[in-house]
Amino acid sequence: MKIYCEKDYKTMSRRAAGILAAQVILKPDCVLGLATGSTPEGAYEELIRRYQAGELDFSKVTSVNLDEYKGLSGDNDQSYRYFMNVHLFNHVNIDKSRTFVPDGLGEDPEKVCADYDEIIRREGPVDLQLLGLGNNGHIGFNEPASVFEKGTHCVDLTESTIEANKRFFEKEEDVPRQAFTMGIGSIMQAKKILIIVSGEGKADIVARAFRGPVTPEVPASILQFHRDVTLVGDEAALGNLMKNY
Ligand code: F6R
Repeated sequence: MKIYCEKDYKTMSRRAAGILAAQVILKPDCVLGLATGSTPEGAYEELIRRYQAGELDFSKVTSVNLDEYKGLSGDNDQSYRYFMNVHLFNHVNIDKSRTFVPDGLGEDPEKVCADYDEIIRREGPVDLQLLGLGNNGHIGFNEPASVFEKGTHCVDLTESTIEANKRFFEKEEDVPRQAFTMGIGSIMQAKKILIIVSGEGKADIVARAFRGPVTPEVPASILQFHRDVTLVGDEAALGNLMKNY
């Protein structure tokens, strides 16, 4: 695993954007696996800046997102499709018909999952998968569990995830209780993985995920078995991990 420990959120976002940009430059028709949440916002801003400076061309890029809340439509401002449009897609020349997010409004959850797995199979393999890390060790919305789920599935969000995500909603009751997420098997099939972490609130879980035992109770720990993982974080988030290195 490669680790970049940057001094703060801004420099870690720049580092992450540099890795994503390098992928797009090296393989213009690459498949990017993308994440939402607050951690990648700075990296997306930097990608937009580089696009506007004429350094990047997204016209042949395909993207598959990790997850979507069940019950939210793409034009709901809390949906992950909306997030991706606002934080990246609307500002670069990506072909939106080549950007994929699970269908939050699909009536039949099994069909939503099967359809998304088919998209990942058809468009994949993912060249570079961007991940954030949940406070409980989740990646995508693969919550702590007794097994690693392989494919796309519908999850009941844990109380800690609902608590962490309520900051984006007006009221806690508005936070959806379920979501569709790409499975651990699909994440592990990406050729390269870039995981980004920021803030001291993540320091303990980063150390558990990357120094502790591999267990579905800490879903991100499975990344210890992936052959090409880059961890980019700020000093606050990587402090505990680096101490033991
Ligand atoms: C979102 C996702 C989640 C987040 C994680 C961290 O698409 O996959 O796993 O990456 O919850 O969220 P932030 O970055 O808001 O701390």
